Amino acid sequence: MQRFSTLIITGYLLVAWNICLPGIAVAEECRLQVEQKCSSCHFATYVCPKLKKKKGAWAWKRTVKSMINHGASFTNAETKQLVSCLSNPDNDLLEICAPKK
Ligand code: HEC
Repeated sequence: MQRFSTLIITGYLLVAWNICLPGIAVAEECRLQVEQKCSSCHFATYVCPKLKKKKGAWAWKRTVKSMINHGASFTNAETKQLVSCLSNPDNDLLEICAPKK
């Protein structure tokens, strides 16, 4: 019985671990993507006023495409990811907009 419950707990932890990991990876990815891809022409914090207005995917898609017109080169996949990051910002991404103390 002892061994059986250890197995269940271990299995549960493994499943929980697997559920958590991709979430963390994606969150870190969003902030990195914006910091790396949006800071070459202006500060990455240029996105902040718009982030705070909680613009939807449609508006962000237009913004990101307009950056491409300004000379940014994003692949379709990158555009898609940036749009989904920006239209649904997580706390990690919003942190770049927090006033520095
Ligand atoms: C190739 C240079 C370049 C890159 C890279 C770039 N931008 Fe811009 N961005 C500009 C220029 C130039 C302006 C000012 C002209 C304007 O307002 O359209 C601007 C202005 C903005 C504005 C304010 C104007 C508006 O439309 O609301 C936002 C928001 C913005 N950029 C977001 C982004 C985001 C998000 C990224 C990364 C996905 C990014 N930019 C990457 C050149 C760039």
